[in-house]
Amino acid sequence: MQILVTGGAGYIGSVLIPELLKKYDVRVLDNLTYGYHGILPHLGNPSFEFIKGDIRKRDDIISSLKNVDMVVHLAAIVGYPACKTRPDLAYDVNYKGTKKLVEVCSVPIIFASTCSVYGKVKGICCENTPVRPLTEYGVTKAKAEKMIRKHMDYIIYRFSTAFGLSSRLRLDLLVNDFLYKAMKNRELIVFEKDYWRTFIHVKDIARSLIFAIEHFDKMNQETYNVGSEELCLRKEDVALKIKEYVDYDLKFAEFDSDPDQRNYKVSFQKIKSVGFRIKYDLDYGIQEMFKGFEFIEAKENYYNDMVFI
Ligand SMILES: NC(=O)c1ccc[n+]([C@@H]2O[C@H](COP(=O)([O-])OP(=O)(O)OC[C@H]3O[C@@H](n4cnc5c(N)ncnc54)[C@H](O)[C@@H]3O)[C@@H](O)[C@H]2O)c1
Repeated sequence: MQILVTGGAGYIGSVLIPELLKKYDVRVLDNLTYGYHGILPHLGNPSFEFIKGDIRKRDDIISSLKNVDMVVHLAAIVGYPACKTRPDLAYDVNYKGTKKLVEVCSVPIIFASTCSVYGKVKGICCENTPVRPLTEYGVTKAKAEKMIRKHMDYIIYRFSTAFGLSSRLRLDLLVNDFLYKAMKNRELIVFEKDYWRTFIHVKDIARSLIFAIEHFDKMNQETYNVGSEELCLRKEDVALKIKEYVDYDLKFAEFDSDPDQRNYKVSFQKIKSVGFRIKYDLDYGIQEMFKGFEFIEAKENYYNDMVFI
């Protein structure tokens, strides 16, 4: 079985690809916006193929789809800061790129969406909760979801915010960002400390995608929140958990606000009902990153918006 992973050189793709290669032939289509470190270890593997190309280009998509049995569609401009910096690009990649893929693809697609489509919600977000995205990122992903639903065979995954290490690191993700600042600056200012967010280790995202490949027929034509109730946490909870590992000065600010106004609790009953459970908790991710951040120094391409500024 051959799987095409669009955006496979990214943060999630770099953790997913080695796991996929244990069982499948894998092709990655990526324009390497943030570099190539995630794919380098696999170039010698005969089961791996890399196509440097663009999800906005019909010809690149068509050549990537040759002999493919299933697509995991990750390619996107990810996160509200990057999408705010380049709204036209975000629209072209996240929405129009997905539209082009749907137009030419005849095999099942597993689409990486986000809980950001919910916005600021009172109560608990289930998959049928009306989406009210607050950011360009959420808007483009919600529009892309609609396009994916026109495809014959699809699974839409609305991921929680990822954390953890990847060979294509992201430091713009909340847990990663808090820990990095706590360790490097010995200080962290948290806005809207009571806002609820939902998290998932990047390895569990990879596991959930393989789960979808393996249970496709049972899960087909449905949308799933991906994460766990145990990792629905307030920002304050994350900051205090980090304090168990790092001695730093934690300040809660009332005078300003985070431009990311997401505040929601999410139900994961639906994905649990088909049999998926997370394996990695916040302690696992913090301990792993704690070891890495002792020597990792921030680079421009660890922050999705900075490469566009
Ligand atoms: N990481 C998270 O917390 C999270 C949460 C929810 C949803 N998601 C979704 O998961 C997917 C992957 O996210 P990620 O964290 O790995 O992000 P990422 O930014 O690390 O990876 C995105 C990848 O897409 C590629 N890409 C961008 N524009 C492209 C184009 N025009 N053509 C081809 N490739 C292109 C980039 O080069 C990059 O390798 C995205 O669709 C994102 O919306 C991620």
